[in-house]
Formats: sequence, structure tokens, C-alpha cells
Amino acid sequence: MKKYSEIPGPKLNLIIKGSDALQNTPFEYLTALNQEFPDIARLKAVHLDIVQITNPDYIRQVLQTDQKNYTKSVQYEQLKLILGEGLVTSEGDMWKKQRKLIQPAFHRQQIASFFDIMVDCTNEMLDEWRKAPEGKIDLSEHMMKITLQIIGKTMLSKDVKSTSKEVDKALTFIIRAVNRRTMKALNLPMWLPLPKHQEFEKNVKVLDKIIYDIINERKVNGHGNGDLLDMLMQSTYEDTGEPMPDKLLKDEVMTIFLAGHETTANALSWTMYLLSQHPECIKKIKEEVSNVARGGEITMAHLQQLEYTKACLSEGMRIYPPVWLIARKAIVDTSLGEYEIPAGTNVFITPFIVHTREDLWQNPNAFNPERWFTEEVKKMDKFAYFPFAAGPRMCIGNNFALMESELILAKMIQAFDFEYLSNVAPEKDPTVTLRVKNEIPMKITAAQIEIVANA
Ligand code: HEM
Repeated sequence: MKKYSEIPGPKLNLIIKGSDALQNTPFEYLTALNQEFPDIARLKAVHLDIVQITNPDYIRQVLQTDQKNYTKSVQYEQLKLILGEGLVTSEGDMWKKQRKLIQPAFHRQQIASFFDIMVDCTNEMLDEWRKAPEGKIDLSEHMMKITLQIIGKTMLSKDVKSTSKEVDKALTFIIRAVNRRTMKALNLPMWLPLPKHQEFEKNVKVLDKIIYDIINERKVNGHGNGDLLDMLMQSTYEDTGEPMPDKLLKDEVMTIFLAGHETTANALSWTMYLLSQHPECIKKIKEEVSNVARGGEITMAHLQQLEYTKACLSEGMRIYPPVWLIARKAIVDTSLGEYEIPAGTNVFITPFIVHTREDLWQNPNAFNPERWFTEEVKKMDKFAYFPFAAGPRMCIGNNFALMESELILAKMIQAFDFEYLSNVAPEKDPTVTLRVKNEIPMKITAAQIEIVANA
């Protein structure tokens, strides 16, 4: 077994420079690190010992075979400030118990009942677009809005758009603060009575109160909407037969609310940008949708047949994975391949690098949805492409996200033509998720509805 210090990595002077670069331009820094030290690289950023892994075999070890040797890393501690003991941030027995309880609510058959809500929200957005002045929109803003609207309706049966300037304000403040804190190597503890900490607390309380109010209202007026909150409130622990305590219920609602919208919005925004650079792919989606839906509304059954549309999304999430960094921390002394990994080491798994490795993918930086129909990609190691992670902590909402994003993508392209109004690619903003820094300016024009000849 080789020592930790033998893991290849930059020399000390590079390390000092690297700490800044890691915080300010992590995509570029980690990509360059991988080019110089492929598969596994060791670096020190301020007080953190970090190992970046991009080899699928190492990734399998961390996320699956040896996953018991790791917890989520420091970044998630910041998320805990708002998500508490929800699924994304809890660990050990607590996580296991909650995952078991919540998993059934995300089964394919259960989430199928949300399909009509997703259709209605998308139609509402498309109607709004028909009134857009000069047909210009910021696509990324609309994707954030629609996915927030969908999670609000499917989880709480609430119209986030009309009820909540308050929610929007509090949520925006909190997300920004947490994003800032996750990207910083050192943070002042929240208990210090600084004005910005007090402001943070105030906003968390606003959101907590809104969720508790909804939970209490349900307790008084009963269930019946069949939304995700109903499912969570009706489920009981196998061993005690008890329902989830209110505090945990609130944490899980907040978790699903946050985990369930920004990621999907990013997947759609980046895929639409890539598609705007490939009109031939947009044409193929239009043909596919037209052949399947024959000019009418897209149904759940149609969705299974939209294989090319799905390939475009897979390709979008390959190049721009919405969760760009999956970070873990070793909790015991362990190993990775032939190297020792001491307890306390932070392991960075970077899907954006693995998804574009030249030895795994042909012409990796090209947007080529056709690759998803090749035997080579169909047989590929699942740790070479994992936008939803893998192993026991794989995304619980993957089927929800795929149903939602395939539907929205197909409907947008069925109804509109898109022109990207800039000469440069949108800038990446890699915070907790891979956001778009400024905007995705698009000119939209209502599409001619095609009548299928053999209808
Ligand atoms: C394209 C959209 C999405 C992507 C790319 C995505 C990706 C991921 C990834 C990579 C993880 C693992 C993070 C880690 O272990 O460090 C994760 C976890 C999770 N996701 Fe998603 N997600 C998406 C949509 C959703 C949706 C729609 C929901 C809920 C409605 C959701 C709920 C969750 C939850 C609760 C977890 C924590 C699971 C656990 O640890 O047991 N996600 N997601």
C-alpha cells in the first residue's frame, strides 16, 4: 500500500496559489489539476486535505463499495443550517431511517400522479411567453421559476408564484448566503451575533414558520391533496408505527423544496443553451415530438417514446452536470486503489471532469446526442456517467427530475423556436449547483405546428 503523501499532486507554491483558485475558479482549477494528475490528485487548501478522484473505479469505491467509510464533507455542514436533518444532510442511522420512510413517495407510480401538474405549469409558462415583449426572455430565470412552481404544487399544493414574495425573498437570501459559505474555506460560526448572521436567522425563521403553518393546517383540516407532504405525513416508521416528528417533517420539506428545483432548472437551462448551438438537434426533437404527440398534448405514455429528447438531456447533463461536485470525508483510515487515505481526508468527485474524460468518451466536448444510442455508451460503467450520483445516496428524485425535464424540454421545443442572443457561452457559476452566472438570453418565436402526414 502506498502512503497518502505519495499520491501525486502540486508542489507547495502551487498549493498556496491553488487555494484561491479553488475558491474563485474551481472548474478551471480542478480541470487543470486533473490534466496534470489524472485519476487521483492530492492538494491542500488552507486547512483542508483534499483528494480529487476522476477514475470510475475509485469513484465506485467511495460512493458504493466503501461508502460506510465516508460521510458528506464540510460543504454540507453549511447546508445543514437550512436543511437540518433532512435527507441531503443527515448521516448514519438517521439518514437510513428517513430514506426508507420517504423512498416510496418517489416511486415511479407515485410520481406519475404529478404529471398533470407539470403539464399545467408548463402550459402556463408557454402562454406567458406568447405575450413576451419582442419575444426576448432570460431562459435560466424562467427555468428556475417553473421548477420552483412545480415543486411548490407537487409537494405542498401551493402556488409559489402568487402566495409568496415573502418565500422568494427569504429563499433567495438564504441560498445566496449558504452558497457563499460553502465556497469559503473558513467561515465564522453562526452563533456570533453579527448583523448578517442575524439576518440569516430571521429568514430561516420566516421559511420555517411558513412550512410549520402548512403542516398544522393539514393536521386540522385533514389530508386529501395527494401531494408529497400528504405522503410524508401519512407514512409511519416500520419499527414504531409512529409518523415523522414535525421538526423532521419540516426539514424534509425544506430539503425536497431546495434539492428539487434548482438542479432541474440547471439541467434544462444548459441543455437548451447547447441545443441552441445545434439547430439540427432541435429539428430532430421537433420531428420526434410531432411524430409521437401528433400536434397534440404530450402524455405520460408519449414520454417513454421521446428517446431522442431524452438523449439530448443526458448529453446536456454530461457536459454541464447540475451537481458539479460530490464531496465526501473519510471518517476512518481507509484506502483508494493502492493509496492509503487517512481519516479526515476530503474526497472530491467531479462529474464534469469524469463525464468528459478523453479515454472514456469519444470527442468528449462535442454535443452529440446520437452517442446515447451506441453500444459503447449503453454498456458504459455507471461510474463514468452519474449526474444523479450512485450508490445508497443516489438522488431520490431522479425519476421525478427526468419526467419533469423531458416534458418541459419537449413542450418548449414543440411550441417555440429559439435563438441564443449572444456570441459567447453563458458563464458558469459553480456554487452548490452549477448555475448560470448571468442569463441565457433567448429570442423565442411561436413555432409552426406541424401536421403529421400519416396521422
Ligand atoms: C436534474 C435534476 C437533479 C440532479 C442532477 C440531482 C442530482 C443529485 C445528486 C448528485 C445527489 C447526491 C448528492 C450527494 O450525495 O452528495 C442528489 C441527492 C438528492 N436529491 Fe437530487 N438531483 C436532481 C433533482 C432532484 C429532485 C427533483 C428532487 C426531489 C424532488 C431531488 C432530491 C434529492 C434528495 C432528497 C437527495 C438526497 C438523497 C439522499 O442522500 O438520500 N433531486 N441529487
